[in-house]
Amino acid sequence: MPRITAPAIGKLKGERKAVMITAYDATSARLADEAADMILVGDSLGMVVQGRANTLAVTMDEMIYHSRIVAQCSEKAHLMGDMPFLSYQTSPADAVANAGRFLKEGGVQSVKLEGGARSLPAIEAIVRADIPVMGHIGYTPQSEHKVGTGKVNRDADTLLKDAKLLESAGVFSLLLECVPADIAAAITKAVRVPTIGIGAGPGCDGQVLVFHDILGFNPDFKPKFVKQYFDFYGQASKALKSFRDDVVKGAFPGDEHSFK
Ligand code: KIV
Repeated sequence: MPRITAPAIGKLKGERKAVMITAYDATSARLADEAADMILVGDSLGMVVQGRANTLAVTMDEMIYHSRIVAQCSEKAHLMGDMPFLSYQTSPADAVANAGRFLKEGGVQSVKLEGGARSLPAIEAIVRADIPVMGHIGYTPQSEHKVGTGKVNRDADTLLKDAKLLESAGVFSLLLECVPADIAAAITKAVRVPTIGIGAGPGCDGQVLVFHDILGFNPDFKPKFVKQYFDFYGQASKALKSFRDDVVKGAFPGDEHSFK
């Protein structure tokens, strides 16, 4: 089955809401592929896979390792790689080289990178290399030491200006993170490319959430913008304790699990 292309994602604007889910490994890739138009191999893997406090230590090699697995275990969804910290900020040439590695080695079809006006040279260079780019404005986690964890620029003029700049640089879509709902709705009206929101209200053209947050992998992480659809941690903890009890009691394995 051919994967959904970047132009096909663009055409969803005004037709129906687009769905993006992150994935990092075989199981998350298979499940996300059943439900989403787009799979993002997010640098959030720094937190949800590696257990770190933020995304900053994630490397290009790690992103490519996870992208290759997700590419192998999904077939339909558009596949996007998230450019990690310092893979594009250093120079437009580095940005193109790393975006190119994502396509050539990671098997993705597009890349996402954070920042408005400041990321323009990198975005223009990647787009010139015919690599589709999703912009990412609002809260940009890679800048947390500069702006403060969770601190978002709420200035509507700057956000709108950044959105328009990125659109003219050629992004095929825009991720809006923790942008106030009214500003996100205004940006969505003002640009021709689809906006994908996370904590940016219902006025966006689509929504993204992190796989682990949708499924409740971390009982201690419940930000306002997440709707948790499953208690994975609670259910998994119960199941593993039942296994333990069965082993201790001698109730597992039974005859049905044993070879004659
Ligand atoms: O890395 C990530 O998971 C993200 C989210 C905003 C979806 O960029």
